[in-house]
Amino acid sequence: MSFFKPLYAIFMLLFVVHSHGIFIRVQNNCPYTLWPAAVPGGGRRLDSGQTWTIGYPSAKSAKIWARTNCTFDSSGRGKCLTGDCGGLLECKELGAEPATLAEYGLNSFASKDYYDISVMKGFNVPLSLTPTSNGCTKSIRCAADLTAQCPNQLKTPGGCHNPCTVFKTTEYCCGSGRCLPSNFSRFFKIRCRDAFTYPEDDPTSTFTCPAGTSYRIVFCP
Ligand SMILES: *[C@@H]1O[C@H](CO)[C@@H](O)[C@H](O)[C@H]1NC(C)=O
Ligand SMILES: *[C@@H]1O[C@H](CO)[C@@H](O)[C@H](O)[C@H]1NC(C)=O
Repeated sequence: MSFFKPLYAIFMLLFVVHSHGIFIRVQNNCPYTLWPAAVPGGGRRLDSGQTWTIGYPSAKSAKIWARTNCTFDSSGRGKCLTGDCGGLLECKELGAEPATLAEYGLNSFASKDYYDISVMKGFNVPLSLTPTSNGCTKSIRCAADLTAQCPNQLKTPGGCHNPCTVFKTTEYCCGSGRCLPSNFSRFFKIRCRDAFTYPEDDPTSTFTCPAGTSYRIVFCP
């Protein structure tokens, strides 16, 4: 058994170092394979039923999304139908639209975490986001199949675009001056009332926990 002792020591050390930060546990409940991505955090293949735990010892913000219909070679290069991040398995930057985003500002203003689900970059996979520690309990979700229900003008293979991406007008993207919901943002809001659906959707779409909370993201909740 002495052979295992050094390994055990390394394991314990990693655990202690990690336990100072937070965890975001990503779970694929979809009946198909996903390639979740995180910036920071990278990305990997996640078959149906599998879980990926990402440790965040010190990040100030994080964005997590799912990629679909990917093919990668053994060096981790390839492409995805949705969410592709420059053809890399381990993402270093945000992916292509559309992609449903789980967004975090960690240990931010007033020592709080700020979290939201955003369809500002469109929608590809339904998801839920649930705090799992610190007594914080506000779970949020965008669980409707917006890809199937997508208005014709926003349809794209594997997802549903945000109207700003398609039309690029101030009505949908806002800019200076008043920023109001549009008929398209209402389409998203009716089906996903927790989600960020237009640029000034904060009051109904941003949630907080004490800094240091861990979270679970479930795709296809
Ligand atoms: C993407 O993958 C899903 C699930 O495996 C499959 O049903 C669908 O046909 C694929 N779509 C395309 C465009 O390849
Ligand atoms: C929103 O309004 C535009 C312009 O009138 C129209 O083309 C579009 O179909 C509407 N979208 C929805 C979802 O009602």
